Amino acid sequence: MSGGLAYQMADGTTGGQLYAMFWASETGFTLSNSNLDNQAQLETIVAKGDFFRCVQCHGWDRLGRQGGYSNRAPTSARPRVADVDLAKMSETLSPQALFDGIKRGANYRSVIENLDAYNPDNNFVLGDKMPNYSEILTDAQIWNIVKFLKEDALDTTALYDIVLLGSEYPRSRGFLNMGIDGSPVAGERLYEEKCSACHGPDGTTLRLDDGLYTVGGYIRSKPYEAQHIIKFGHLGSIMGPVLKDSSLSDIQDLFATMRDANKFPDTKPDIGPDPEPIDGAMAFLRHCSGCHSGGGEGPSNPRYGDVTGASASLINTMIQTEPNMRHLKPDDPAQAVSLAEVDAIAAFLAGN
Ligand code: HEC
Ligand code: HEC
Ligand code: HEC
Repeated sequence: MSGGLAYQMADGTTGGQLYAMFWASETGFTLSNSNLDNQAQLETIVAKGDFFRCVQCHGWDRLGRQGGYSNRAPTSARPRVADVDLAKMSETLSPQALFDGIKRGANYRSVIENLDAYNPDNNFVLGDKMPNYSEILTDAQIWNIVKFLKEDALDTTALYDIVLLGSEYPRSRGFLNMGIDGSPVAGERLYEEKCSACHGPDGTTLRLDDGLYTVGGYIRSKPYEAQHIIKFGHLGSIMGPVLKDSSLSDIQDLFATMRDANKFPDTKPDIGPDPEPIDGAMAFLRHCSGCHSGGGEGPSNPRYGDVTGASASLINTMIQTEPNMRHLKPDDPAQAVSLAEVDAIAAFLAGN
């Protein structure tokens, strides 16, 4: 792949994360490394996030209205899904042409436009337009996105077949032939190696997306989103870009193994819908009070400070990055602290 130096230096994994939600902490986005003028602008963007996230308009699969988001109708808080095929454009346009199209497309809206009155029935023209990203993102950030689009994004037509029902957006869709020609045996091996420490051997340990899904259930019903999250990470959680170096055929294998709903069930029958609630204060005393106080519990003179108010994502990040907390990692064979316990501890530290 040719392209200028800026393109060659760009990082497609960060690009995939910028594509999903450019202001996520994983992307390194801050006010000072953006093209925004002030904090108020950033806050307005985040509050109206779906008018600014590439995924909302182009879909996780970049197929817009022909993809997994074909059924995603606009609301007062999110615009229409775009009627362009960004996957095709990523293939055919040069890096420079993609860069130019993202930086300032032909038909864009400024970030300072007020979108409060957006209404999908009678006031949608402005909100449906692509934002003027030259006002938000730096050139380096845009090059990362270009790299993602041209090199790192997965070709979802090689992962499953999509069937669109009816003719007008929004319309229903279904997914068939999961994994296409992938090898379920190789996929199971990959799952054991890369996923089961957190999700359990059958994908049911963590309750995903507000408790609605297991890994198997999620991949079978939302393969268009799963393929991106598996490769680029679940932003805001401890699940990083687990398969960032994997090939398309590895992900075909993984998806092929998910056809088996006996091995990777939709629910966990032996636990049922409501597992025993975890006592956050008890979990804090067991796992944290050796080093911290918090929520009015723990030592009066803690070695490493008081952590009242710490969020689950901060705690998970600290567990991943702070050497003194590494023993708490959930993928540690000793399973020192589970993700559910971290959630309960965060709720306790928030005073809930
Ligand atoms: C609010 C909806 C919306 C958002 C958000 C959005 N787009 Fe678009 N995009 C569109 C629409 C509609 C078109 C087609 C019409 C046009 O060219 O403006 C388009 C066109 C494009 C094009 C072709 C532009 C050209 O003129 O050649 C590219 C490339 C693109 N989008 C990439 C992105 C990327 C990358 C992001 C996120 C950084 C993004 N878009 C965010 C709606 C959106
Ligand atoms: C370090 C732990 C960890 C690893 C390793 C991991 N995950 Fe996750 N995964 C999580 C967490 C935490 C969530 C978010 C749970 C939540 O809050 O909904 C998640 C979410 C997901 C989701 C749902 C995404 C959504 O939008 O809700 C899927 C699907 C998923 N993981 C699949 C996988 C697969 C497949 C692998 C292996 C390739 C994997 N995960 C590896 C921890 C992990
Ligand atoms: C063996 C000691 C140890 C244990 C046990 C421990 N931590 Fe920590 N923690 C640390 C150290 C060291 C730091 C970094 C402190 C610093 O840089 O000032 C830290 C930092 C933190 C921070 C970041 C504080 C900040 O202001 O940025 C949070 C939040 C946190 N820990 C929460 C927890 C929670 C919750 C638990 C229990 C699940 C826990 N820690 C268990 C040693 C520990």
